[in-house]
Amino acid sequence: MPEKIAETKAPASASLLEVKDLKVHYPVHGGLFMKRVGEVKAVDGVSFELKPCETLGLVGESGCGKTTVGKALINLAPVTSGSILFPGADGKMTEIANLGRAAMRPFRSRMQMVFQDPYSSLNPRMSVEAIIEEPLDIHKPDMKRKEKKEKVAWLLEKVGLQAAYASRYPHEFSGGQRQRIGLARALATNPAFIIADEPVSALDVSIQAQIINLLQDLQDEFGLAYLFVAHDLAVVEHISDRIAVMYLGNMVEIGGGSDINRRPLHPYTRALLSAAPQPDPYKRRGERIILKGDVPSPLNKPSGCGFRTRCPIARPECALHVPELQEKSPGHFAACPYV
Ligand SMILES: Nc1ncnc2c1ncn2[C@@H]1O[C@H](COP(=O)(O)OP(=O)(O)O)[C@@H](O)[C@H]1O
Ligand code: SF4
Ligand SMILES: [Mg+2]
Repeated sequence: MPEKIAETKAPASASLLEVKDLKVHYPVHGGLFMKRVGEVKAVDGVSFELKPCETLGLVGESGCGKTTVGKALINLAPVTSGSILFPGADGKMTEIANLGRAAMRPFRSRMQMVFQDPYSSLNPRMSVEAIIEEPLDIHKPDMKRKEKKEKVAWLLEKVGLQAAYASRYPHEFSGGQRQRIGLARALATNPAFIIADEPVSALDVSIQAQIINLLQDLQDEFGLAYLFVAHDLAVVEHISDRIAVMYLGNMVEIGGGSDINRRPLHPYTRALLSAAPQPDPYKRRGERIILKGDVPSPLNKPSGCGFRTRCPIARPECALHVPELQEKSPGHFAACPYV
């Protein structure tokens, strides 16, 4: 039977992931000689930690850099600067930012990403068995055929699908089932950490809860840590231990799930929460805050605080410095000196 990663991972007090001042800037070229004319600051100085078995929800509007953070962690986006520490096989925290493909391989087998769109993330020409087996072919080249087949059947059952589905193709499945297949594939190499990039955003509301429950069951069984990305705070509220809020490439607030929901501090988080639908009218989150204007382009960020062009309490000083995350109460950080 496949071994559980929970037995091999670091003690609960240690970090599983430490990200410091991560930046991903994409150069933009233009003009007759295709000179570098600017850069898209997709991720512009993001720091956070994750412990084993913990879920960090990462929220923010479309385009704020959530997917790029996830991709940078597993080497699918180029890191411009900053540090990403993840434990190696010996348990020691190791710098993995911009490692080459081969050097990254042993780390990659223990960190996996599940993507938003279950319709385009699975190769339509591969059978379910081949899809789930692929990471094993890469990371466990010595594994015997029969063992791989058994593992695929076992994984399918773990994600709530029949082992007999192994010979079928992605188009034969619904969105929810495809997301289960994606999860089985992610679990194949016994990861300690899964980046779930909006795993339920493309699914019917009735299916979303099933997938979230499955993610929680798998977390308990395999001791997984999640970076759970969503554009909607309501989705992460239920599953996250802590929640981080991003705006225009920066993290503006991070704290315990109930801190963020009940005592949001940053003006952007407040606006985001006030805009969320609240089914119980007696639990209204106060006056709805409508932000003026649009999110600026990451190609042309405002100086100082990135939120200042839309912030209801902005003052002239906000243009001078990029505000750092400050601990406002234990474990609850916000990047605004005026809250
Ligand atoms: N490969 C790329 N080249 C240039 N710009 C990119 C690239 N990938 C993402 N971006 C830009 O970076 C910003 C953040 O994108 P993304 O991380 O996908 O945001 P989110 O997942 O929060 O919607 C967007 O403005 C996007 O257009
Ligand atoms: S630093 Fe200024 S602009 Fe930014 S959130 Fe605080 S008050 Fe608003
Ligand atoms: Mg995204």
